[in-house]
Amino acid sequence: MADREKYKVIRKLDAGGMAEVYEAVAEGIEGFEKKVAIKRVLPHLAENKKFIAMFLDEARLSLHLSHANVVQVFDIGQAGGTYFIVMEFVNGTNLKALMQKMKSRNQLLPIEQSIFIVMEMCRGLSYAHGLKDAKGRSLGIVHRDVSPPNVLISKQGEVKIVDFGLAKATSQLEVTDPGVVKGKYAYLSPEAATGKKVDLRMDVFCCGIVLYELLTGQRLFLGNTDVETINNVRAGYVPSMQQFNPGIHPQLEGIVRSALAVDPNQRYQTCDDLAESLAHFLFSAQLKVTGFDIRRTLENVIGDPNKHIDKQAIIDNFIQQEIAVFSSLDGGMTLRRRPPSRTSNPNAPVDVSGFNSHSGSPPGYRDSNQSMPGAYTPSGAYQTGSVSNAGYEEEEDDGTEDRQNFWVGLTVALAAVTLIIAIAWALGFIP
Ligand SMILES: Nc1ncnc2c1ncn2[C@@H]1O[C@H](COP(=O)(O)OP(=O)(O)OP(=O)(O)O)[C@@H](O)[C@H]1O
Ligand SMILES: [Mg+2]
Repeated sequence: MADREKYKVIRKLDAGGMAEVYEAVAEGIEGFEKKVAIKRVLPHLAENKKFIAMFLDEARLSLHLSHANVVQVFDIGQAGGTYFIVMEFVNGTNLKALMQKMKSRNQLLPIEQSIFIVMEMCRGLSYAHGLKDAKGRSLGIVHRDVSPPNVLISKQGEVKIVDFGLAKATSQLEVTDPGVVKGKYAYLSPEAATGKKVDLRMDVFCCGIVLYELLTGQRLFLGNTDVETINNVRAGYVPSMQQFNPGIHPQLEGIVRSALAVDPNQRYQTCDDLAESLAHFLFSAQLKVTGFDIRRTLENVIGDPNKHIDKQAIIDNFIQQEIAVFSSLDGGMTLRRRPPSRTSNPNAPVDVSGFNSHSGSPPGYRDSNQSMPGAYTPSGAYQTGSVSNAGYEEEEDDGTEDRQNFWVGLTVALAAVTLIIAIAWALGFIP
């Protein structure tokens, strides 16, 4: 039986291509309240079965991620014909908004703070990349959309990556609903942009893009059209950083260029390696930076993030009612959950039977030729690359609890009947 959490929506935070994000309060037992963010898939996209199946698949996987630099996912649910992800609420801003604000002031973040943000991103990514199943096999997790809107910065100066793996689902929509992914191509890696298989080194490349843009205040690959952007990514041309920011040391520029190598074999092989080089650079350049500096920057640049909320954006009754009857698809904050594991056959379909039984959602789908992320061909047609990605076994209800309940019930019933007979006999109703 699915748990039924109560969520009270406070306000709409923002909207992306595939979803709207709301700030809400989870009301638990005995008046316990916790702020959460709820991502609501735009209802028309929920009709795309392939997208939803992959979306749920990735969202379920993200339930297992628990790290200071990763936005924690608490719950996945369904209501009103669409789907929701309930996650940790990050009170602050996203990196895109911070960069835009700096640009409007004609300023750049201090070099050490830009480095700090990317090092923190690397910590979160590295944790997810390193996750293994119970048998010690890598789960092969890749974020696939490391871009400024998916990097959240809290008022306290924390840096957290959000939307792990969701890009994989979104690319299902590229052919039918191209608006959904518009503007996202500037944060692809060359191998993704050419339809090749991607691995964690795609995320290394994207950290390189974010670092380049933070340090220079310039978009690296953005072209006038999507096709131009994709061609820029494929070519991987990286203009001199010093022309935009003379304060950039050649050693630092070298690090960014290594992260941005077109050939994944020539890149840093892991986010750990990139972060390590950045740490060495900070040390050798005698630069000191902590989360407190980021906190001060946020105070100065963004101020109170809640001040800019458009009152019109306050949630309407319709959404509140929808979320009020939200039913968890997978048992809510599944603390009972076993660690994820690869199925013996990595291409085997993921078991989403739990979803089906509660929600009537589409059957679990995992394409044996995992097609993520797609890539534009010169003709503009979307081409899918083959990415090996594991199926993830979820905790299954093996019926043990039901069987125990049955025997307890039977014992109680027998005891009650025996007691009634004994009393009836004692009172002389039974000879
Ligand atoms: N857990 C969260 N806490 C606080 N704010 C969040 C949270 N998740 C998302 N947001 C805010 O909502 C915005 C929109 O998120 P969303 O993921 O829907 O769109 P996007 O990242 O811009 O694009 P995409 O649809 O490609 O992911 C984010 O940029 C961020 O500002
Ligand atoms: Mg996002």
